[in-house]
Amino acid sequence: MEIHKFTVNTEDTILRTMHAINEGGIGVAVIEDKDKKYFGLVTDGDVRRALLDGVDLHEPVKSIARKDAVTASEKTSYESIFSLMNEKIRHIPIIDAKGRAKDLVYFSYRKEIPVAKPFLRGNELKYVTECILGNWISSQGNYVNELERRFSEFCGVDYSLAVSNGTVALHLALVCLGIKRGDEVIVPSLTFIATANAVTYTGAKPVFVDSECDTYNIDPRKIEKAVTRRTKAIIPVHLYGQPAKMDEIMAIARKHKIHVVEDAAEAHGAEYKQKKVGSIGDIGCFSFFGNKIITTGEGGMVVTNNHKIYQKARILRDHGMSLEKKYWHEQVGFNYRMTNVQAAIGCAQMEKVEVILKEKQKIARMYKKYLSPDSRLILPQEFDWSKNVYWMYPVTFKTTGKNKENVRNKIIEFLAQDSIGARPFFYPIHTMPPYYSKSRLPVAESVSENGIVLPAYMGMQEKEIQRICNLIKTTLDKILS
Ligand SMILES: Cc1ncc(COP(=O)(O)O)c(C=O)c1O
Repeated sequence: MEIHKFTVNTEDTILRTMHAINEGGIGVAVIEDKDKKYFGLVTDGDVRRALLDGVDLHEPVKSIARKDAVTASEKTSYESIFSLMNEKIRHIPIIDAKGRAKDLVYFSYRKEIPVAKPFLRGNELKYVTECILGNWISSQGNYVNELERRFSEFCGVDYSLAVSNGTVALHLALVCLGIKRGDEVIVPSLTFIATANAVTYTGAKPVFVDSECDTYNIDPRKIEKAVTRRTKAIIPVHLYGQPAKMDEIMAIARKHKIHVVEDAAEAHGAEYKQKKVGSIGDIGCFSFFGNKIITTGEGGMVVTNNHKIYQKARILRDHGMSLEKKYWHEQVGFNYRMTNVQAAIGCAQMEKVEVILKEKQKIARMYKKYLSPDSRLILPQEFDWSKNVYWMYPVTFKTTGKNKENVRNKIIEFLAQDSIGARPFFYPIHTMPPYYSKSRLPVAESVSENGIVLPAYMGMQEKEIQRICNLIKTTLDKILS
């Protein structure tokens, strides 16, 4: 700690001391005597009380110094120093063998800023209580149908089917499209692993394609090269809330007669050319995990405009049971049902979804305000053809040389030390053991190495965003200087 910034001499005035307290920013000044030995402490509270007692601002500060403030030596352990702290003692100067103040340990309360936080301050408790009081806690119950109805309206689709999570939404979608062993499905490498796992569950092979620098999404220019006669589908992912370039993707799919399943797990309400994501491909899949834009704890949704696909998905969601004849099964299905309790939370979330989306736009504007211009950072680009919903706020660092990963990791570490949650970008799937491949996807790899995502949840305060941005900038100053 740079204690010289808030160290004054016994003969300095109270006014000069006030400036030093201000400069230090921790509410205290250290006072030393003419031999530079520690003399005492003055807190901003001491100055305030002195002024109220009529003490003149031009008096020497020694008249109000706390000479009996608790101190510790350089050899004292942190545990012992902390044990000296209490409601009244919040600043402890560390004195060296020559009697000089070398450091200062102080108590500071920093509010935790997690990377994500659900926003549950609405009708969630009321609707869940209704489920419990009415005994409708399984997947039977009105809230499931109601959530599906509301979600269809929100997405502008004909059909929605609530399921137990976003991963099974993707699996169900692929099975409904007939994807099976021997097939190939094109996916971006830079995504959460569930996108690829859902393909693997069908027996098909995920084929990884590189990302674009501007959207971080699958690069449509690189898709066609990956198409083979086995290719049956493409899964574009709308990463961190930014829509993928759907016109180009749909054109390739039409040309090769392959399906498109949108992975919109992170992008509820995002728009591509005024159309909600999830409504453009054959099927759209969403996640309602606790950290998502809206949540049901765990949960997911399959959306489509195709009645046949919808009927098939309904049957497969429920053990392949006939829709007409109960307990009659004509195929092997799954239990991918959502419970009424989860759907009850989902209905309450749907009542606030527009407010949440607006707030996310505001948070993104604040990040932009406090992080730019800074040539060391790349912030999310804005496009006139899309509405990004900023599930989280992605930032990449423009660093060169060997210590790329260090920069990203150091920033995360420094933020964590200040109780701020930040995450690295997803690791490209083709670099991880289950899907390891020697082939290089340079954009996905470089973006992942240099990128972090910042919190963007409901209720974040401007001063919290400012705190995050200041810390990122000062950390960059430190590690890149
Ligand atoms: C891009 C993407 N796809 C799929 C999923 C899977 O969703 P869930 O966690 O609900 O299974 C997630 C969830 O984190 C995701 O981010």
